[in-house]
Amino acid sequence: MQTNSSSAPASPHVLIFPLPLQGTVNSMLKLAEILCISDINVTFVVTDHIHSRLLRNSNVVSRFSKYPGFVLQSISDGLPKEHPRGGSRYIEMFESMKLNSKPLLKELLTSGWLDRGRGPVTCIIADGVMSFVCDVANDIGVNIFCTRTLSACSLSIFFSLPKLIEAGELPFTGGDLDTPIKSVPAMEKFLRRRDLPSFCRSDTLSGPSIQLFKNENQENARAQGLILNTFEDIEGPVLENIRAFCPNLYTIGPLHAHLKMKLAAKSCYTASSNSLRKEDRSCMSWLDSQACKSVIYVSFGSIATMTKDQLMEFWCGLVNSECKFLWVIRPDLIAGDGEIPEEVLEGTKERGYIVGWAPQEEVLGHQSVGGFLTHSGWNSTLESVVEGVPMICWPYFMDQQVNSRFVSEVWKLGLDMKDTCDRVIVERMVKDLMVKRKDEFLKSADRMANLAMKSLSEGGSSYSNLERLIQDIKTISV
Ligand code: UDX
Repeated sequence: MQTNSSSAPASPHVLIFPLPLQGTVNSMLKLAEILCISDINVTFVVTDHIHSRLLRNSNVVSRFSKYPGFVLQSISDGLPKEHPRGGSRYIEMFESMKLNSKPLLKELLTSGWLDRGRGPVTCIIADGVMSFVCDVANDIGVNIFCTRTLSACSLSIFFSLPKLIEAGELPFTGGDLDTPIKSVPAMEKFLRRRDLPSFCRSDTLSGPSIQLFKNENQENARAQGLILNTFEDIEGPVLENIRAFCPNLYTIGPLHAHLKMKLAAKSCYTASSNSLRKEDRSCMSWLDSQACKSVIYVSFGSIATMTKDQLMEFWCGLVNSECKFLWVIRPDLIAGDGEIPEEVLEGTKERGYIVGWAPQEEVLGHQSVGGFLTHSGWNSTLESVVEGVPMICWPYFMDQQVNSRFVSEVWKLGLDMKDTCDRVIVERMVKDLMVKRKDEFLKSADRMANLAMKSLSEGGSSYSNLERLIQDIKTISV
């Protein structure tokens, strides 16, 4: 590892650069706060686009004002303001950042601008899918740790992409999606084509996503270590495959609960919202008026979209299940005009409640919530795990396809509805999760929640790995 060349002992000063997405920014802000609590200075770099949304909607500025060593810094991603930066055009954001953000980051790090009162940056923590940050760190001689905010099970598949190609399991076109996949270690018994990241469903290997994840992933080995938002008891066997590529792993999750425990230990816990969207808290009083574990919470994260027809299938299935539901319908959830049909708004009054964006962590922790219909984003999955809430999974893209397989087949925490969208199936699965098989799922969810909390308690794996990470950051800063 490189050490700081100055003879005077420097304060640790970490620059964190997350991937500019809701889920990743959210979890990296949790890590930033944990480091601040541990007396480490943090410069948190986001793109201008994320910066303006954070200032508009979150309480990040007031929340971090109590940490004098924290600075929020923005740089351009090189794209025009009106660029969507998501959906099918997210690759353009990667390309543009490689070209435009890379020199800006280098300039920021070498100009002395960030040093003011906090000493020079002694270490970088960046999302491992942005290998250009590794280049910058190596150029200027600063230590770098990579993070991946996805599940280890999805990461393990990304690392195995060359093996899958070599074995002829990729690419595949059409054919039977239930064909077993044998080339990913520790997943031979249950992985099918349909559980691979969505970008694998292509008849060519030249697609931008498959190339991005095949190439960028191998770059993680260049970092001093890889920080993962997971815990050993949930993904242990899979982590072994990742250790073959990156031996120095820091599994420190679930991060949101880890931060909560650190703050509670200092008696300064307040619910944190790093949301890029405005939360509608009115749903909390609606939940207060519902019976214990009677409500299914429905949310498809920050990126997934659906057609109006799919929305109607979900709505009819939910209404027909006769369960109460709280549904997050973001203004950009429905493709096309985005309008929620009047029939849905009117018809929901009796059985449910709709908001544009919810305080999700608090919702999942509410005693009335007994199930989660989710897109299986990794943050949502971990938030549900920690609260012991069983899930119905409707994965949209990327890692979500494999997360949902693990939820249903490996961890037995719920049901996987991937590749269908039918009111009859929605109704049946909601009834199964909330009524017929309620006790069975609650029991395994409760068991997993206990394992998560055990990993965060003194002596637990995530607790010890975080201590080791903090110590390593301090050591390389001397
Ligand atoms: C993206 C990818 O889609 C996902 O697969 C990957 O694992 C991480 O990045 P996203 O759609 O943002 O994920 O889902 P997720 O990872 O679940 O993160 C969503 C975050 O938004 C969660 O932390 C959740 O608490 C928060 N959220 C969601 C709210 O605060 N309110 C809401 O109403 C909905």
